[in-house]
Amino acid sequence: MRRKIAAGNWKMNTSKHEAESLIRELLQGTWGDEVEMIVAVPFTHLAWVGEWLGGDARIAVAAQNCHHMSHGAYTGEVSASMVVEAGAKYVILGHSERREYFDESDDLVNSKIRAALDNGLRAIFCLGEPLEIRQADGHVEYVLNQLERGLRGISLEEMDQLVIAYEPIWAIGTGVTASPDQAEEMHEAIRSRCTRWWGARKAAAIPILYGGSVKASNAHELFGQRNIDGGLIGGASLDAKDFLEIAKSF
Ligand code: PGA
Repeated sequence: MRRKIAAGNWKMNTSKHEAESLIRELLQGTWGDEVEMIVAVPFTHLAWVGEWLGGDARIAVAAQNCHHMSHGAYTGEVSASMVVEAGAKYVILGHSERREYFDESDDLVNSKIRAALDNGLRAIFCLGEPLEIRQADGHVEYVLNQLERGLRGISLEEMDQLVIAYEPIWAIGTGVTASPDQAEEMHEAIRSRCTRWWGARKAAAIPILYGGSVKASNAHELFGQRNIDGGLIGGASLDAKDFLEIAKSF
């Protein structure tokens, strides 16, 4: 059976104090054993969060980005191995905010995925179309193109280290969620493309998350779709009660 994942993307939010309260509240919560909870926190919080978790294996820590080079004169950047040393098991790559505000291309995202996998970091690879592409009915082609470019050169064995997150840009932080049918259409297309490349068994095992205004009130219906294996949750992950509710929505 595929892993189920509730991943929180905190973005550039939380003071140290707020982060600690959030983690402590999550630790007091309960959710299904089959659900892996992930918190993607700012770089500065990675090691602290690991400490607060105190080895609790129910919650994994993720970074929200990493550089594609291993080291060198890249002022302000953080490498995949540094992220691993700080205690992260996952890294979010290709988020639309990185693509938009930091000009990250599919090729750059591909190099970052390479760097993550080479360092034993699992990649949460984000894809998603802007509104005008959906309105012109080009969304499936657009996202499959991102998928192909982002995963170029990734081997069959490495697919086990990958999580895909479909996040339509028009649904991120807007309060507008893709309908379960819209999301399922894309998840199904992504999985069929993976089946074509890597075979049915591998493709069936890849967790594909939906992201974009996931809330406690819509999570159950979204996660009930055949090809939706959980969520990448921004805003609602900053409230422990909401996030726990979402983690229980499978
Ligand atoms: P949102 O963000 O849940 O606030 O829409 C999702 C994301 O950007 O990962």
